[in-house]
Amino acid sequence: MRWPEYVQIKEVGPRDGLQNESQWVETEDKVKWIDMLSETGLKEIEYSSFVHPKWVPALKDAKEVGKRIKRNPNVIYSALVPNEKGLENALEAGIDKAAVFMSASETHNKKNINKTIEETYPVLKPVIEGAKKEGKQVTGYVSTVFDCPYEGRIKVDQVLRVVDKLFEMGVDDISLGDTIGTAVPSQVEELLEAVLYRYPRKNVIMHFHNTKGMAIANILTSLQYGITRFDASLGGLGGCPYAPGAAGNVSTNDLLYLLHGLGIKTGIDETKIEAATRFIQSKLNRTEPTRSICYLTQESAEKI
Ligand code: HMG
Ligand code: MG
Repeated sequence: MRWPEYVQIKEVGPRDGLQNESQWVETEDKVKWIDMLSETGLKEIEYSSFVHPKWVPALKDAKEVGKRIKRNPNVIYSALVPNEKGLENALEAGIDKAAVFMSASETHNKKNINKTIEETYPVLKPVIEGAKKEGKQVTGYVSTVFDCPYEGRIKVDQVLRVVDKLFEMGVDDISLGDTIGTAVPSQVEELLEAVLYRYPRKNVIMHFHNTKGMAIANILTSLQYGITRFDASLGGLGGCPYAPGAAGNVSTNDLLYLLHGLGIKTGIDETKIEAATRFIQSKLNRTEPTRSICYLTQESAEKI
């Protein structure tokens, strides 16, 4: 097996990692943490989220964080942007890249962003256009691409419809989200066969949560398909507030262990990553990342 020479990791800990935390992390600690991350060799850091602070209070200081972090010119600083109001705030705080997001499943989309899938496109279109006008790149996240906590298994066609529309609206790349961390490698193969038939590998990012401990296996499968871009979170922090029971993202630490062990370059210093992990875990009063066993409602589990 020939592995890719280089893989790019986007650190989503400051956004996906913290958004689900009930423990408040002080703004100055977030800034300190992101500054530490900026010196690890990471090429992209998703530093916060410009959603409604009532829905994600853990990130209500997004603007202040964006204004206070020390920008390393070698790092792309991105953030979640749900609508034009979010874009206005994100541009004021400073972003290099906007990440719009929606789901392949109707119910998760509605619970997460309060819109049907069809209602979401006209909200995202001006965000993508507005960001581009300001010279920013745009990622399109698609959530629940494998399983939905409310609807069960999601068909590949459903995912493709959303992916096609996002590319048509102008996103530079897409991040395919196993939001509830339940996919197994055969599901990854099925989806990547279809997506990579239509779009270049370089524009596809994989975003695995690790509820069932399958994230590394799914990443290995993605690597075999030539995918070289992954989202990950320090210490495996994270989860979606609208996907009850979902565990955090694949841990950046585990992912680096895998990639470096395979001889794949990332440009990231594992020692600095460990120091940044210890820093944030101490702020969250935690030594180990949490893992959850509850991931689907009984009803949707029966549909799988
Ligand atoms: P809405 O209530 O439908 O919005 O929320 P609205 O447009 O009807 O506006 C209602 C009020 O909210 C208005 O204020 C707006 O100004 C205000 P009022 O006039 O009533 O005083 N408002 C805002 N305020 C601040 N910032 C904004 C904003 N937008 C509207 N951006 C909205 C829609 C999307 C904003 C809301 O549902 C929301 O914030 N949801 C949070 C969703 C979220 O953050 N989910 C987690 C992230 S996604 C994820 O984790 C998955 C991912 O990791 C991939 C994967 O794992 O699969 C990316
Ligand atoms: Mg996520």
